[in-house]
Amino acid sequence: MTVNKTIMLSTKSIWQNTKTFFPLFESFIEKSDNPRPVVCIVGASDGRFVVPLARKNYDIIAVENDPIMINGGVVEGPNKTKINVLGLKERLKIEQLSSSVKIIENNFLDADLPFLVDAVFTSSTWDCTINHNSSLKEYINKMQVILKPSGLFCAEYMMPCEEKHLNVEHFLDERKINNFFNEDWQILEEFFTPVFIDEPHVGKIFPHNHRMGFFVAKKIK
Ligand SMILES: C[S@@+](CC[C@H](N)C(=O)[O-])C[C@H]1O[C@@H](n2cnc3c(N)ncnc32)[C@H](O)[C@@H]1O
Repeated sequence: MTVNKTIMLSTKSIWQNTKTFFPLFESFIEKSDNPRPVVCIVGASDGRFVVPLARKNYDIIAVENDPIMINGGVVEGPNKTKINVLGLKERLKIEQLSSSVKIIENNFLDADLPFLVDAVFTSSTWDCTINHNSSLKEYINKMQVILKPSGLFCAEYMMPCEEKHLNVEHFLDERKINNFFNEDWQILEEFFTPVFIDEPHVGKIFPHNHRMGFFVAKKIK
């Protein structure tokens, strides 16, 4: 019998139409056979990944520093349209999931993270301009140190596909992510997309090129 695992939600993220390999991350967590893992989402935005994981009864720590993504507001969309953002807190309230999610309203790089988690996930965050003044090593290390033994580190990230990306270390080329993971880690999955055209979305109001990498590593020591 095929089980339909689609989880129906009442609210939507403003990011819902952009490319993600998040379901693959979910399948790795499921394989780990922990019925109630603690998962940290770095750059949680308005809850695109937080809400479905909380719906599965996982405990979530959501780190986000954009007040509009957390509390709601209006952002600019394509053709000068205005997009209403419900915000992470309101989405969680409507979905009746607030008690499963701890929100850390801060820049991830400045945040105190006095806990260990079973998995950490980030989607297209370290390439954001606010992170360019710190090294990528600092960002990735900060994700690594909050993992319990056997914890999963998963990231999807933007690769260089425009001239302006070439001088920014935060746009990682093929296999460069491996330099940040020593013998304490086992790489479970790694792949790269071809360059693709993305339709306008928040923050990029014209069609544009992207190339993405995806990576899952397990902490083995
Ligand atoms: C490009 S958006 C995320 C898009 C993602 N693909 C999705 O579907 O949710 C990046 C998000 O990460 C957040 N972010 C980036 N760097 C951050 C940091 N250092 N601390 C906290 N949040 C951060 C941004 O504010 C934004 O909400």
